[in-house]
Amino acid sequence: MKTQVGIIGGGPSGLLLSQILHLKGIQSVVLEQKSRDYVLGRIRAGVLEQGLADMLRSAGVGDRMDREGHLHGGFDIAHEGQRMRIDLSGLTGGKSVMVYGQTEVTLDLYNARDEMGGIVVDNAQNVMPHNLKAGTPYVTYEKEGVSHRLECDFIAGCDGFHGVSRQSIPETVRQEYEKVYPFGWLGVLSETPPVSDELIYNHSDRGFALCSMRNKSLSRYYVQCDIDEDVENWSDDRFWEELKSRLPTETAAQLITGPSIEKSIAPLRSFVSEPLRYGRLFLAGDAGHIVPPTGAKGLNLAASDIYYLSEAFIQYYTEQNETRLNEYSQTALKRIWKAMRFSWWMTTLLHRFPENSDFDARIQKAELDYLFNSEVARKALAENYVGLPY
Ligand code: FAD
Ligand code: PHB
Repeated sequence: MKTQVGIIGGGPSGLLLSQILHLKGIQSVVLEQKSRDYVLGRIRAGVLEQGLADMLRSAGVGDRMDREGHLHGGFDIAHEGQRMRIDLSGLTGGKSVMVYGQTEVTLDLYNARDEMGGIVVDNAQNVMPHNLKAGTPYVTYEKEGVSHRLECDFIAGCDGFHGVSRQSIPETVRQEYEKVYPFGWLGVLSETPPVSDELIYNHSDRGFALCSMRNKSLSRYYVQCDIDEDVENWSDDRFWEELKSRLPTETAAQLITGPSIEKSIAPLRSFVSEPLRYGRLFLAGDAGHIVPPTGAKGLNLAASDIYYLSEAFIQYYTEQNETRLNEYSQTALKRIWKAMRFSWWMTTLLHRFPENSDFDARIQKAELDYLFNSEVARKALAENYVGLPY
C-alpha cells in the first residue's frame, strides 16, 4: 500500500490529522494497534480549549460537540472550606472552555473518517517505521497474521507515550526531560448529576480532589492517591467518603453518589522529548510529551501539535515549500513548554506533596491566598486555562 502521510496511532491526534489532511486532498492511512471498541472505551480528558473546539468545527466534526457539549465560562478553586470562582470569560475577554469528553471527540472523528472513506486499520500489530533518514520511509505491520508494508512520504508518530515512534529516534538524538510526581489520580465515572454546574478543583489537607462532569447526568470525580495504590482497594463507598472529606462541607453535603461505571488510577508525569522530528518522522501529542492532568492540557496540546503539523503538510503539498515542516519541532515545543509550566504549576499549587517541608506548605498556602485575593493572579491562571494562542 502507498500513501502520502502514514499515521501511527488512532487516538485523537492521529484521527484529527488524518481528517484535516483529507479535507485538503492529502492522502493518509492510520495504523492503530488496538480495536476500535478498546480505543472508544478509554475514559480520559474532558475539557477542550476554544482552539481545539474551533479546529473540530473547521474539520467538519463539531456538530455533535456544539449540540451536546457544554460551554463553561468559569470554574471553582476550593481551599480551607472556601470556594472561589475563576471567571474565565470575565478575565480573558469572553473566552470559555467546552466540556465534552475525549471519548466523544474520538467517536466523532472515527465516524467522519468512515463517512469520507478514510483508511483506519485497527488491530495492526508490530507496527514499525523504517528508513526515516534516507529516501522514502515506510511502515511495516501485521494484521491477522499477514505482513503489510505501507510506503509514504512522511510518517506522523501519533501513538501516545508508550508507542513505537519516539523509540525509533536514536537515543543519541533524543533529549528527554521528565518529572514524575509522587502520587496518582484515582478517577470515577458515575451516572449521577454533577455536584456543581462548573468544575471544582479542591486543595485539602487530605490531598487534591476534582469534581468534573461529562453532562447533566454523568459525573467524573478524581482524588489524589498514593502512587502505588491498587484500584481494587477502593470500593465505591471508600471513594465517596474520601472525596467528601476533601470538599468544603456544604459542597460535600450536596454530593449525590451512586455506583461507579468506571474506576481507574493514572500516574502523574511531566515529560518532553526533543526534537519532535527525526528525518521524515514527526511526533505529535502524547508520543512527544505528557503533562499531569491538573491543567486539562494533554488533549489540548495534542491538538495544537496537529494544528502546526497539518499546516506544515498542507504547505508542503500545496506550495512545495518545506519551511513549516523544518520549523515544526521548534514551533510546537514553544507552546508545549508553556503548557508544561502551567500544568506543573497547577499540580504544585493544589496537591499534597508527601515530602513537603513546613516551609513548602506555607509557600503553597501563600500562593493560594494570593490567588484568592489578586485579580492579576487569577487573570494569569485564566489566560493559560482557556489556552494560549496557537
Ligand atoms: P493517545 O490518546 O494515547 O492515542 C495514541 C494511540 O496510539 C492509541 O490509540 C494507542 O492504542 C495507539 N498506539 C500506541 N502504540 C501503538 C503502536 N505501536 N502502533 C499503533 N498504534 C499504537 N488529559 C487531560 O487533559 N485530562 C485528563 O483527565 C486526562 N486523563 C488521562 C488518563 C490517562 C490514563 C491517560 C493515559 C491520559 C490522560 N490524559 C488526560 C491525557 C490525554 O488523554 C492525552 O493527552 C491524549 O489522549 C493524547 O492523544 P494522542 O492521540 O496523542 O495519544
Ligand atoms: C475530566 O473531566 O476528566 C478532567 C477535567 C479537568 C481536568 C482533568 C480531567 O483538569
